[in-house]
Amino acid sequence: KFDNRVKIVEVGPRDGLQNEKKSIPLATKIELIERLAKTGLQTIEAGAFVSPKWVPQMANSSEILEHVLKNPPPSPVPLTFSFLAPNTKGLDSAFSLLSQHPTAFETETARSGKSSQEGGKPALEIAVFAAATESFSQKNLNCSIDTSLSRFQDVIQQAKAANLRVRAYISVVLGCPFEGYDVDPHRVATIATTLLEMGADEISLGDTTGMGTAPRTKELLTCLSSAGIRNEDLAMHFHDTYGQALVNTAVALEHGIRTFDSSVGGLGGCPYSPGATGNVATENVVYFMESLGMDTGVDLDRVADIGDWITREIGKGNDSAVGKAVLGA
Ligand code: HMG
Ligand code: MG
Repeated sequence: KFDNRVKIVEVGPRDGLQNEKKSIPLATKIELIERLAKTGLQTIEAGAFVSPKWVPQMANSSEILEHVLKNPPPSPVPLTFSFLAPNTKGLDSAFSLLSQHPTAFETETARSGKSSQEGGKPALEIAVFAAATESFSQKNLNCSIDTSLSRFQDVIQQAKAANLRVRAYISVVLGCPFEGYDVDPHRVATIATTLLEMGADEISLGDTTGMGTAPRTKELLTCLSSAGIRNEDLAMHFHDTYGQALVNTAVALEHGIRTFDSSVGGLGGCPYSPGATGNVATENVVYFMESLGMDTGVDLDRVADIGDWITREIGKGNDSAVGKAVLGA
């Protein structure tokens, strides 16, 4: 039976804002998260417990987590907030807040039986982030792929033991700013298998540079399927740097993928990927999915308003063609 439901993971508050040079006020970040919570989006990536020396913009992620625990934003669907943690130090920062508010969030077990209509307490997700090339791993994590995976093993084990969902990114799967187009899909398959065996619930495949094309997206997904990786364990994370994000989305959808990452207003870029522009805009993905008869559960008009507001707020152009069209701008 054809499954027309698509889950969109909103990465704007983390991936979208992390690269901004000017410090964005905490109140603006919280307003962004609270507004996104009202749109029907189920998962919002809200911060990163990473070194503030490496990514200063994410330095107030503890305050963000504390805020959503103390004041769960009203939402039409059960919400999950995702936070990056590259090592156990980052995870410990999250744990220390969770231990102060032990009943403020829902565990993975409690959440899994819920219907999509119930709201209430948010669930938390921890995200680790590997790379498909050694150069990108060094630039982003200051260590080799193998070392990063052994660190993630501890993070994943401890997060799962605390009954939290775990997402694992693999960046630069379709092109690397330092190594070019030739990223080996078999390498991606091996890393994804390792992360799933460690206990990750989902792998998000990042086309960090936007160098992905339709044939290479197909080649990658075919390779992962041949390696025994199930579509339901995968999410696609496209960037629109070369304008290929929706074409690649169509290929992934056709392949059977049903989870897609995007960023309101097309915000973002990776600090360790020179020249990379934004993530594909949430507005564009929602509009595209609707045009195909897919069901995202996301209110396009509301998301377009948020994209317009946040891009003005941080002094950027709105990168969403759909957002601008919907608003008549
Ligand atoms: P390092 O310098 O090798 O680490 O960095 P270290 O263990 O030597 O520690 C250095 C300092 O950082 C120490 O502080 C630690 O305490 C501190 P000092 O003694 O100098 O004062 N530290 C931390 N502080 C807060 N939270 C932590 C933490 N860990 C250490 N968790 C490290 C290694 C992994 C920490 C660093 O490389 C790092 O933080 N990297 C993160 C970079 C990042 O966030 N990149 C963006 C996310 S990935 C991405 O955007 C791509 C993606 O979106 C997909 C896509 O778009 O395609 C996922
Ligand atoms: Mg991204």
